[in-house]
Amino acid sequence: MTAVKHGAAAGDAGRPERADWTIDQGWENYTAEEHAVWKTLFERQAKLLPGRACDEFVAGMRALPIGADQIPDFRRLSDVLMKHTGWQVVAVPGLVPDDVFFEHLANRRFPAGHFVRRADQLDYLEEPDVFHDVFGHVPMLMNPVIADYIQAYGVGGLRAQKLGMLEQLARVYWYTVEFGLVKQKDGLRIYGAGIVSSYTESIFSLDDASPNRIGFDLARVMRTRYRIDDFQESYFVLNHLDELLELANIDFDPVYAQVKGLPDYLPGDVLDTDRVLTRGTGHYSAAKRQPAPITL
Ligand SMILES: [Fe+2]
Repeated sequence: MTAVKHGAAAGDAGRPERADWTIDQGWENYTAEEHAVWKTLFERQAKLLPGRACDEFVAGMRALPIGADQIPDFRRLSDVLMKHTGWQVVAVPGLVPDDVFFEHLANRRFPAGHFVRRADQLDYLEEPDVFHDVFGHVPMLMNPVIADYIQAYGVGGLRAQKLGMLEQLARVYWYTVEFGLVKQKDGLRIYGAGIVSSYTESIFSLDDASPNRIGFDLARVMRTRYRIDDFQESYFVLNHLDELLELANIDFDPVYAQVKGLPDYLPGDVLDTDRVLTRGTGHYSAAKRQPAPITL
């Protein structure tokens, strides 16, 4: 359960010195405790993810200087990424304003939180930390399709802001880059960073009977609200990651025109027109909405 927003929460008070909000990672300043938190998180996911993470995630992770023992050094990550897909990782203090975020992505710079969560927050954090951003996102940036798709999202984000369609576009990012599932020959797999960096959601998204798993459809996703503070009620599934390549190249304007002014769908809605892979029981979210039973 990882809240992944890119809008700034801190406002001007949190504005760093540089206009693009980047800071030095300060890799040399991480403490032994901070590296130890990384190690705990890394080892937990490394055990869990075989057979759950998609092949592209596994391949990206193998090719990068990311290991259990230390928080990765962004300079070394960027060296490898740059050679493969022209991306680099830049450090930011936490959330950054949308326009700053999009500008980075449009230029193939991935802004990553430089801090690591505390040892007592392993399964919950409000702002994306280095584990979410680096472990979750960076391996996928080694894949040329994702590399192009996220850059296109940056360009599209700047445009959607002007068109008043940012909320709709952000849902596409949410249900793909953050919480996407993809079909592989051997079953459903995770490619979304919000899932793959979360122990509990890596299990919930694939194994639990509660959520819906629905074939991805762009206009449908644009109209679908999402849960920012809990497991998703619906996951959208690609037939193949190459579907994102198409999304990186098409003009969104006709789709914006199609959805503009139409009502939103709730996170758990299932429509007659959906390609439903799994119709969820919804028991997890229903239980959350009920007041706790009174016991005498
Ligand atoms: Fe993220």
